Amino acid sequence: MLLHTVLLAQVLLAICHVGLAEKMMRPKFKDIKIWSEEKFISHKVTYDSADPHLNFSMEVHQDLHDVDIHLEVRITNKQDPLYTTTMNTTLNVCRILGFANKSPVGRFVHGFIREYGNIVDSCPIAKGSYFINKFWWPEDPTTAILPELEFEIIWQAMLLDSSKKRTLIMNDHFGGEFVVQDVNNLKPGIFAMLPKIA
Ligand SMILES: *[C@@H]1O[C@H](CO)[C@@H](O)[C@H](O)[C@H]1NC(C)=O
Ligand SMILES: *[C@@H]1O[C@H](CO)[C@@H](O)[C@H](O)[C@H]1NC(C)=O
Repeated sequence: MLLHTVLLAQVLLAICHVGLAEKMMRPKFKDIKIWSEEKFISHKVTYDSADPHLNFSMEVHQDLHDVDIHLEVRITNKQDPLYTTTMNTTLNVCRILGFANKSPVGRFVHGFIREYGNIVDSCPIAKGSYFINKFWWPEDPTTAILPELEFEIIWQAMLLDSSKKRTLIMNDHFGGEFVVQDVNNLKPGIFAMLPKIA
């Protein structure tokens, strides 16, 4: 019953969005630099701004024992450079996967991403192909007046071998800006995140 209600709400949302321009803040990538250590891994990132989605594909050439992800994000207001937000964090992929498999929230998020392709789900990360196709996050229309923001994202992966020696295997830089634009292809909001029924 609940699921039917959710489905109905999803359909209604989809209908409401047809042909209706709404204000949305979307990233516009200006500068993408992708690097990987080809001995271990090859990867590719593509982005479509018209029908906003991101594709990520990765070929793992040999089993990866353990991997850390380092993420740095800087968001700056173009009008007021003093208004800057930064994030600088390192996460262990194998520990996140442990969490994803054990907690309900983790399973939910992991399940959401899993809908988009074949993603890493255990450690060691086995040799093979992984991808995320047509990934996009749920959006909600913006009514407030938002400042124009610039962003810079640094995404690195480090291989940890059994003696904890670190090797940089992935190093991506993404630069661009968030712009408020009128869109008529808003990706449905929070309802889209509920598990789909087969
Ligand atoms: C992403 O992958 C999908 C499915 O393979 C494809 O239809 C789409 O054109 C790709 N988009 C980009 C930006 O490469
Ligand atoms: C992020 O943290 C690392 C290590 O703590 C440091 O070397 C690096 O400079 C920091 N980056 C930024 C943008 O603050």
